[in-house]
Amino acid sequence: MLLLVFLSAGYLFGQTVTKPAIDPSEYAARRVRVAKEIGPNGMLVLFSPKLQIRSGDQEWPFRQSNDLLYLTGIDEEETTLVMVPGDPEFAEVLFVRDRNPQQEVWTGRIPSHEEITKVSGIQRVESSRVARNFINTAITGWPWVTNFDALTERLPPRSLPHFYDAIVKGSAEIWTVDEARIPDPTAPATQEQLFVRDLRERHPSLLFREAQPMLVHMREVKSAAEIAVIQHAIDITEAAQKAAMKRVLTATSENQVDAVIDFTYKDLGTCCWAFPSIAASGKNTTTLHYMTNNGPVDRQGLFLTDLGAEYLGYSADVTRTYPASGKFSADQRAIHDAVFAAQEAAIAALKPGGHFRDADHAAIAVIGRELARLGLISNAEPRQIFMYFRHVPGHHIGLETHDVADRDRKIEPNMVFAVEPGIYVRKNDVLASPVYAKLSKEEQASIAKALDRYDGIGVRIEDNVVITETGARLLSSGSPRKSDDIERFMAR
Ligand code: GLY
Ligand code: MN
Ligand code: MN
Repeated sequence: MLLLVFLSAGYLFGQTVTKPAIDPSEYAARRVRVAKEIGPNGMLVLFSPKLQIRSGDQEWPFRQSNDLLYLTGIDEEETTLVMVPGDPEFAEVLFVRDRNPQQEVWTGRIPSHEEITKVSGIQRVESSRVARNFINTAITGWPWVTNFDALTERLPPRSLPHFYDAIVKGSAEIWTVDEARIPDPTAPATQEQLFVRDLRERHPSLLFREAQPMLVHMREVKSAAEIAVIQHAIDITEAAQKAAMKRVLTATSENQVDAVIDFTYKDLGTCCWAFPSIAASGKNTTTLHYMTNNGPVDRQGLFLTDLGAEYLGYSADVTRTYPASGKFSADQRAIHDAVFAAQEAAIAALKPGGHFRDADHAAIAVIGRELARLGLISNAEPRQIFMYFRHVPGHHIGLETHDVADRDRKIEPNMVFAVEPGIYVRKNDVLASPVYAKLSKEEQASIAKALDRYDGIGVRIEDNVVITETGARLLSSGSPRKSDDIERFMAR
């Protein structure tokens, strides 16, 4: 395995730990797979996204696109990866910003081309100023030189003979990620989409190939190094979970709990969350993607934290639900234990050769059984269960929290999943639901009674697992999951 673990002085849980990283040889091996796939007539082009404006002239922090990060490890703006496997001299070229002392005064050091090579393993690093020029050259066959850009003069005039020959024969293929991750016709076009649109207009005979399925297929199965990086993101996330469980005992507002979560991420050496933290008290636990995080702490209620630190671009995704008082009421415990049983069933259903939907079915079967036992439904049928559990019980994690996936692909060793069943009791929503309206008067009366008892209780338990040769191994066992363990931890 191409796992690199180097010792740098990291500090977690009061001990010095090794910080995982991904070796340049692993990025190189990924590109070898891509080159094989796209073949000698192909050209792969991936761009980093433009900086996004937050407000006025203030920008959001830069976040590299996942496919570019996956193939290069370079987390820098203005980066373009071009791969032309048919012309060995240009089999992989990375265009990046040049060092620029005037700009570096304002925004900090720009890595040198040598440093870019060291991280990515790409030997041919060129200035981002000539990226478009290079691509045009490859397509038109003209020598790669411009008389208006002095920078390129250090590059001898060249062309890409094999790729140009493919262009002439009409067999050249441009590979890029053109499909939107979330289809939205009103969303601004990505750099790749603009690139394809422009090329289609100027060179109608070019063939275009979608790179996404190939990259999804690769990204779905993690390497040992990726799993070590994800584990590190999970360890930081669980430290934040434990800090939150302690803080809530004396906090008066959700934002005080949110604050220790952010503090823990930064204190343990990661820049940020992979998705905005959810710190929800009382009834807010029943809002699936609650992000307001500034309500009062309901001392008698539950507290739910759904957290994911990001490390080297990789996401954790762990949820814990615990009593703000440190002690579950009998009703809170009943719901918590029902969700825990569903999660255990889902995790047990994950094994190589199976499908993620096996875990869906296992979780839903237990939730149905438990909701019926608690009197919240009259019959464990999907439409009644849906009144309390409306999301899928899990997803791949990786460079995206909801990582790219082909949901029809069979489960394989080294896939990494978040498994997250939940029960959310929202009395008024259930009473207003058409499913409830269709039940008999007796069924309604019995459910209404249970709703009075459990209203405002929302529980999600979310853990991360890696698939092994025989099943699933828990990666997030570092923070208490069972109700007894939670109480014991909070009492300490
Ligand atoms: N935090 C997002 C999710 O659990 O899927
Ligand atoms: Mn999740
Ligand atoms: Mn989550």
